[in-house]
Amino acid sequence: MKSSGLRKKFLDFFKANGHVIIPGASLIPVNDPTVLFTTAGMHPLVPFLIGEKHPSGKRLADVQKCIRTGDIDSVGDSWHLTFFEMLGNWSLGDYWKKEAINWSFEFLTGRKYLNIPIEKLNITIFAGDSDAPKDEESTAIWQQLGIPDERIYFLPKEDNWWGPAGQTGPCGPCTEIFYDTGKEKCDLSCRPGCSCGKYAEIWNDVFMEFNKTKEGKYEPLKQKNVDTGMGVERTTAVLNGHNNIYETELFLPIIKKIEELAEIKYQSQPLNYRVIADHLKAATFILSENIEPSNIERGYVLRRLIRRAIRHGRKIGIKNVFTFKIVEPVIDIYKDIYPELKKNKDFIEEQLVREEEKFNKTLERGLKEFENIQTSGVISGQDSFNLYQTYGFPIEMTEELAKEKNLEVDLDGFKKELEKHQNLSRTATAGVFKGGMADAGLETTKLHTAAHLMLAGLRKVLGEDVIQKGSNITAERLRFDFSYKEKMTPEQIKKVEDFVNEAIKKDLSVKYEEMTLYRAKEIGAMGVFDSKYGQAVKVYIISEGDEILSREICGGPHVEKTGILGCFKIQKEESSSAGVRRIKAVLE
Ligand code: SER
Repeated sequence: MKSSGLRKKFLDFFKANGHVIIPGASLIPVNDPTVLFTTAGMHPLVPFLIGEKHPSGKRLADVQKCIRTGDIDSVGDSWHLTFFEMLGNWSLGDYWKKEAINWSFEFLTGRKYLNIPIEKLNITIFAGDSDAPKDEESTAIWQQLGIPDERIYFLPKEDNWWGPAGQTGPCGPCTEIFYDTGKEKCDLSCRPGCSCGKYAEIWNDVFMEFNKTKEGKYEPLKQKNVDTGMGVERTTAVLNGHNNIYETELFLPIIKKIEELAEIKYQSQPLNYRVIADHLKAATFILSENIEPSNIERGYVLRRLIRRAIRHGRKIGIKNVFTFKIVEPVIDIYKDIYPELKKNKDFIEEQLVREEEKFNKTLERGLKEFENIQTSGVISGQDSFNLYQTYGFPIEMTEELAKEKNLEVDLDGFKKELEKHQNLSRTATAGVFKGGMADAGLETTKLHTAAHLMLAGLRKVLGEDVIQKGSNITAERLRFDFSYKEKMTPEQIKKVEDFVNEAIKKDLSVKYEEMTLYRAKEIGAMGVFDSKYGQAVKVYIISEGDEILSREICGGPHVEKTGILGCFKIQKEESSSAGVRRIKAVLE
């Protein structure tokens, strides 16, 4: 069975079991500002896991594209990726462990479905600790289904708990399903979760019944939810008898393309090929969301992926600009499911070429500089910062180079150097945001608030007919579409800029109120009245005394005071489509 068959079978199965199929969300989290990227299917659903009513009901299923950089060092082994797709079924306060586990089992082993022999399945279960008890309920269910005790493993929170790492939010114990590839155990302690590749985790059933508070406590959630995630790449691999993901149709055409460009073949140096294939696929998807390489936040993740791929390209003898050549095979693999790739092909390729040319200018010299560093085993903060600043080496790349020579990098020293040179804008400090969303990027958050002010300015200058038609905000800039028939004059643009900058100078408070959608409409709040917001919505208000400048329905986050925004500048105003204008603006 190919990946397309797997996606379809999964969705059909859960549809037949009362689930509504919902579209996957963007890689840029819409409902969860605690993460830079959508790393799992649960992020877009956070409001609904904590009690908001989902318009499609309580049983949902989807395919979600994800980016996860936590495992970047493991990319190249049999099973780890930075870009992957997850199949998920969800209970929002509806069914619980029995149904969830039974369905997982039926889908995996049922003749009509994946038909995996039960002997291949190994199960891990939460062992219990002072926050939550051992999961006896799941254990009994798996035993009843015929999984013998020797294939059931009880593991601690690090392995069997899905939750916000060090942050707040919905979480709970999980039970994971591993496929045994049949490889020999690497040693006596080899078990599911071991990195040797014998066991592939293919599905995770999370029982989300807790909310982790700011104080680190686990409180019961209003409702008990089920969040499951099945890896498309891994499951496709094992269904086709492969012992790694790169042999599936989701990677082979990319590997083939790289072979055309390289001097050394895949069989000789698979690791370099795998890193390139994974990273450039991930980069293609990130670029398709209009993110550009930069030194902060999402842009920096993207830059790291591209630059790491370039260095690995050198290792297999690729000398020319090549990263853009991987875009076509990626588009081809996913053309039926992710049309945004093809739509943004030119932008994606252009950005890759630009980034690669930029990096090529310093890569060779940087590598020479690296060779010349005098060390007694540890590369100093100053040297690694110099590689970063002068030669554009992401710190992870320096670490990787160091590892190859059995050296270490003084990471604390690097961070200190970086802080010295950086204006404070990079990481958000707790308290800047509403609602404790401490991990949302400060630059992005500032631009979100600027967008509200700009819409207010546009309506003031161009008239009340102006409404928002769309927006796309990154850490570097905001792009904003609005209804208006003519080109704006330079005077009008200046007036809108002045309006926003005036509001910034006055350091106005940004507040929000929660209310029903009905009430929000009644008081005339701007915003996309989309049913996805459910019943209760947040209305962000910026006012000066009694005068309300802006009142918009919005999930946030926003800054607390406008004074932090800096100087607002409109860089471009152009036509977007008939009757719709597009503005690109920045904060300086
Ligand atoms: N959130 C869980 C995971 O990503 C299950 O979907 O593994």
